[in-house]
Amino acid sequence: MPKSLSNRTLNIAASLTVAIDSLAKKMIAEGKDVVSLGAGEPDFPTPEPICKAAHCAIDSGKTRYTAPVGILELRKKICEKLSKENGLRYEPEQITVTSGAKHAVFNSLAALINPGDEVIIPAPYWVTYPELVKWLGGVPVFVDGLQENDFKITAEQLKQVCNDKTKAILMNNPCNPTGSVYSREELEALAKVIVENDLYCISDEVYEYFVYKGTFTSIASIEGMKDRSIVINGFSKSYCMTGWRVGYDASPAPIAKIIGKIQGQATHHPSNIAQYAAIGALEMGNAESLKMRDVFRKRRDFMVSKIGEALGQKLRAPEGAFYLFAPVNSVYGRTTPEGKTIKGSVDLCEYILESQGLAIVPGAAFGNDNCVRFSYAASDENLESACRRFEAAIRSLK
Ligand SMILES: Cc1ncc(COP(=O)(O)O)c(C=O)c1O
Repeated sequence: MPKSLSNRTLNIAASLTVAIDSLAKKMIAEGKDVVSLGAGEPDFPTPEPICKAAHCAIDSGKTRYTAPVGILELRKKICEKLSKENGLRYEPEQITVTSGAKHAVFNSLAALINPGDEVIIPAPYWVTYPELVKWLGGVPVFVDGLQENDFKITAEQLKQVCNDKTKAILMNNPCNPTGSVYSREELEALAKVIVENDLYCISDEVYEYFVYKGTFTSIASIEGMKDRSIVINGFSKSYCMTGWRVGYDASPAPIAKIIGKIQGQATHHPSNIAQYAAIGALEMGNAESLKMRDVFRKRRDFMVSKIGEALGQKLRAPEGAFYLFAPVNSVYGRTTPEGKTIKGSVDLCEYILESQGLAIVPGAAFGNDNCVRFSYAASDENLESACRRFEAAIRSLK
């Protein structure tokens, strides 16, 4: 009998969004007619100037190791971006270039957590957060953002869960899966509680360019927050660079030092070539991303209207990101033509995938079993087909 594997690792769940997307891709490879709105991946190609920067990097021999924290030129450009767009002043030594934003979340938690530390996670949450907290020996503490408050948490709710063991809060603004966007006033109220309770704040801002109403504010830019915040961002969503794997942490110098040490021992650095591609992205500025946002806004409106019609209810239009988190609990208790009762979001998504070939993600994966998540970072054609399939699946339930 081989010796047992790591208990810490056995305790974490696999990512359900990745699992659903992989299943949909497998079904497509088997020749099945499947539309997947499972993954949060823009359907546009990586812009040409970014690809050119990568080609240029290869041609000029940028194929060797870089510093573990990333190349200086890229870290300087990230500092310029954070200063110009977010009002945040960092030195290049405070930036760690990572293999995607997911890796930046891991680094941040690894730098902060001691066994038993509590990390507050507003729910619904991105699937990865609680699993990484648990993996690192921390305890995720969920605070439910109520549907009536656009799934956002309030300062009062935050105050109630803080105690001596609370180490940090992990914010995601704009939020995957809900598309909620916190206003400056809401962030100021949360920041007050964060400062009063001497917490760290990890702020995942990968959807910052996809805000449809109002403007984006980084919580780190609020008074008293920068020295206790780790800002996370990346290139996957904003520059259609999901496969390139580049993100970053911007943190107070002592934390940046630790993150650099972790990275130096664990992964070293993201691909040298991809880092040059990221410089190409930052040199482009965000005009292309904002054009993409305008396309997403139209797709969002389409989805809100069609999915709302299928469910026979008016849906809220998400203010950011590219997901629709739709309440579907009105169909729970109904049965499929095969006689299976739909008891929750997992049953419903399984039925929709099997009967209609539409992959969407159960809300249970994000800590809210009443909803399902549609990604509308997909072509108009796929969205139209997805809505028809969803409507047919709902209509078939008795
Ligand atoms: C909130 C959030 N953070 C981070 C990521 C991961 O981004 P990356 O591809 O840069 O690792 C995602 C991807 O879905 C996300 O939704």
